[in-house]
Amino acid sequence: MWSMVCLSFWLGTALAQTQYTSTGTAAIAKARATALTESPTSNIAGKTFDRFVTIWLENTDYSMAAADANLQWIASQGILLNNYLAITHPSQPNYVAAVGGSTHGVTGDSFTRISSASKTIVDLLEAKGVSWSEYEEDSPYSGFEGDYVNQKTGANDYVRKHNPLMSYDSVTSNLDRLAKIKNFTMFYTDLNNNQLPQWIFITPNMTNDGHDTSVTTAGKWARSFLTPLLSNANFTKKTLVLLTFDESENYANNNQVFSVLLGDAVPASSHGTTDTKAYNHYSQMATVENNWNLGNLGLSDATASTFF
Ligand SMILES: *[C@@H]1O[C@H](CO)[C@@H](O)[C@H](O)[C@H]1NC(C)=O
Ligand SMILES: *[C@@H]1O[C@H](CO)[C@@H](O)[C@H](O)[C@H]1NC(C)=O
Ligand SMILES: *[C@@H]1O[C@H](CO)[C@@H](O)[C@H](O)[C@H]1NC(C)=O
Repeated sequence: MWSMVCLSFWLGTALAQTQYTSTGTAAIAKARATALTESPTSNIAGKTFDRFVTIWLENTDYSMAAADANLQWIASQGILLNNYLAITHPSQPNYVAAVGGSTHGVTGDSFTRISSASKTIVDLLEAKGVSWSEYEEDSPYSGFEGDYVNQKTGANDYVRKHNPLMSYDSVTSNLDRLAKIKNFTMFYTDLNNNQLPQWIFITPNMTNDGHDTSVTTAGKWARSFLTPLLSNANFTKKTLVLLTFDESENYANNNQVFSVLLGDAVPASSHGTTDTKAYNHYSQMATVENNWNLGNLGLSDATASTFF
């Protein structure tokens, strides 16, 4: 953490130093008290869905996930994608790629910044008035740019490397964009206020996503998180959910990850079916771009196959 803070001083010429955050308790409390939080909504009709929600679990081979009873139950509620590949290893470049159409040369999990010349899905969504937010479990406040450990146990909890938009200077240099990178407290606030946006990225913490635990924990969490949402009218409004994993655990295989499409945008007649078409993490952008006629970034998002 301190190396990141120091790095920010070295790199701090282009961006205000205040954009980088220390994780000291007092500094967190102070920043939390004034953190800008925004909950924009919109109602732009899409071709197939009016809301896209992607939920990312961690580091699990397809075969391991397919053997988990809770993930099997989730697949029974939607369409299993059994030919969906992650992009690379380790975690961070997969997250970066899913919102920016490229890994942008990121090859590791360490603190990274991608030049403001690189756009993301957020530029395309905003241009068409489609509201968006990220919900990152246990991030201490909206727009927090560091890593955060559990304050009681010291365990890894919220990590920047699993926050896809946070690596992009085109996002972090914009306070209104940082204000839409929220935590799960805000997810439930927005849900209860019927203020969820139309594009949502969800990152559970290092326990719930399976990273520091197991696929059993991740499957249990995913089922318990999704079950009430799938019957909550503030969530299910022609909503397409993609549950996926960032990468396989075994670097020697083809990086196939267990992925399911569900939500009320998936017709009941398709529940429990399997789609064998080839997809990858870029398919998320391609699908969203096609759904709302957003155009594309001209990167791998332009050529990936779409879910519909
Ligand atoms: C989540 O973010 C909000 C908004 O910044 C903040 O008020 C709240 O304390 C955070 N929740 C947790 C559990 O840190
Ligand atoms: C992750 O969140 C769950 C609640 O969803 C909590 O029980 C767990 O302790 C959190 N993990 C860490 C490392 O704080
Ligand atoms: C949905 O949003 C409305 C409006 O804020 C609220 O009254 C209701 O309790 C919410 N329902 C759920 C299940 O969160």
